[in-house]
Amino acid sequence: MKGRLTTLLLGAALLFATTGCTPGEEQTVIKLGHGMDVTHPVHRAMVFMAERVAEKSNGQMRVDIYPSEQLGTERQCLELLQIGSLDMTKVSSSVMESFSPLYKVFGLPYVFENDAHRFDVLEGEIGKRILLSSEPAWLRGITYYDAGSRSFYTADRPIRTPEDLEGLKIRTQESPVAIAMVNQLGGAATPISFGELYTALQQGVVDGAENNPPSFHTTRHYELCDYYSLDRHTSPPDVLLGSTHLWERLTEQERQWLQEAADESAQYQKKLWAEATEEAMKTVKEAGVEIIEPDIDAFVEAVQPLYEQYRQEQPAVYDVFQEIRNMNRYAEATDGAESTADDN
Ligand code: GCU
Repeated sequence: MKGRLTTLLLGAALLFATTGCTPGEEQTVIKLGHGMDVTHPVHRAMVFMAERVAEKSNGQMRVDIYPSEQLGTERQCLELLQIGSLDMTKVSSSVMESFSPLYKVFGLPYVFENDAHRFDVLEGEIGKRILLSSEPAWLRGITYYDAGSRSFYTADRPIRTPEDLEGLKIRTQESPVAIAMVNQLGGAATPISFGELYTALQQGVVDGAENNPPSFHTTRHYELCDYYSLDRHTSPPDVLLGSTHLWERLTEQERQWLQEAADESAQYQKKLWAEATEEAMKTVKEAGVEIIEPDIDAFVEAVQPLYEQYRQEQPAVYDVFQEIRNMNRYAEATDGAESTADDN
């Protein structure tokens, strides 16, 4: 009995020491699971968010982060949110396509003119509309993290033109748009989860994949792929989400702390992203990966039928695509300049 009491007291003391909460005051614990490695800039941004939540709430709220697919793949984490077994997750917008179709617009190739255009869309009305579009599926988007642009990397055969993809097995995310795009370019799209890709490349299950520089780097896929071809075909952002069950459980004040901390972490993440991209490119080059700057116009040309397909089959997605494209000032601003030159 005495032992139990000591343990209880010790537990209470520990709680007080680690949270700053007064005993008796209940702490709100939020569980967040995701698929990135702990060195990845998006993981580090979420750690920053957790710190800001603790500060703002004076320890009354705590976000516990489970990285590296410990709790499941991106798709599985979303399903855990839907049934209320997990509170928050971070996934690629491409994986959201199957939960809320409007996300497809971010997966279409060459939808943004440049970084400024992308951030204006994500941080503006369209971005917010899409974040909230998944609420009927119990998923509330909280903020976006930048995920740069995705490009092809291959083990043995370099991609210099779209024709080079012919017959290559290319890993894609679980994303209808990514699958359609790779197939349109002549590759054989092979959806595999992020965590299983290293082994799949190693065993030759796929000939290559596509991703942004920090992910190519932190996954160590560059150990297996000698060519990185910067065609920058898509720029789907990452999305931080909470389940609607969590949102209902939180007080108005707690929601505000969480939202503010998330927004601050998204701004902070832009800086982390730029640094990580630079470091990634440097490391992969040093490791002997050949960096290819292909003629992007050839890729733009090759994906044109995809837009027509979406116009016919998914008019709601196509309307948002048009809305984004019609933000004309970006087209003017980049006139004559290389639109995505510094946007890896
Ligand atoms: C990006 C994205 C991840 C995603 C990964 C993938 O790195 O940020 O959320 O898991 O691509 O290709 O699966």
